[in-house]
Amino acid sequence: MKGFLGTPASFGADLNLIVQVVMGLALIAGALLARAKRYAAHGVCMTTVLFLNLVPIGVVMWPSFEQLVLPRLATHLQKRYYMVAAIHGVLGAAAELLGLLILLVAGTNILPETWRFSRWKLWMRVELALWMSALLSGIGIYVVWYTALWRQ
Ligand code: HEM
Repeated sequence: MKGFLGTPASFGADLNLIVQVVMGLALIAGALLARAKRYAAHGVCMTTVLFLNLVPIGVVMWPSFEQLVLPRLATHLQKRYYMVAAIHGVLGAAAELLGLLILLVAGTNILPETWRFSRWKLWMRVELALWMSALLSGIGIYVVWYTALWRQ
């Protein structure tokens, strides 16, 4: 199904782009809530985005990565198309996994003591920076894959 942003991207890719930008803004709003010491609202906001993002990863991004990127990654990494996707995949997976780890440490007692950390603020800042890098590299994928701006 054709997208709605005037590029050759599919409807799924266009929707994903918008959804990801909105979720990025929601995370910034969530960080501001923590600054305002509204910790319960902060927790709800961050947790919702973290879980909601599993949907576009499962429906749009992972299938695309598996079908279009993985089979040719080893032999075509020097091409911008694959390079940007590889960088994005690593950043995106790291952001999602670190977010889940922070949630497990903050909200449960499931993890053993050695996995726990006490420097909350530091790790949450790292997570926000990682997520923003994933978002920017995702926008990079969209530009490289679907526009003529940065083609190799
Ligand atoms: C915090 C996590 C993530 C964020 C913020 C994010 C953000 C984005 C954005 C903004 C796009 C451009 C829209 C599009 O082309 O669909 C995109 C596309 C893409 N992402 Fe992610 N992403 C994340 C996680 C992942 C993960 C874990 C993978 C796979 C390992 C992945 C693989 C891809 C691929 C292959 C595309 C191109 C999809 C297509 O257009 O067919 N992303 N991502």
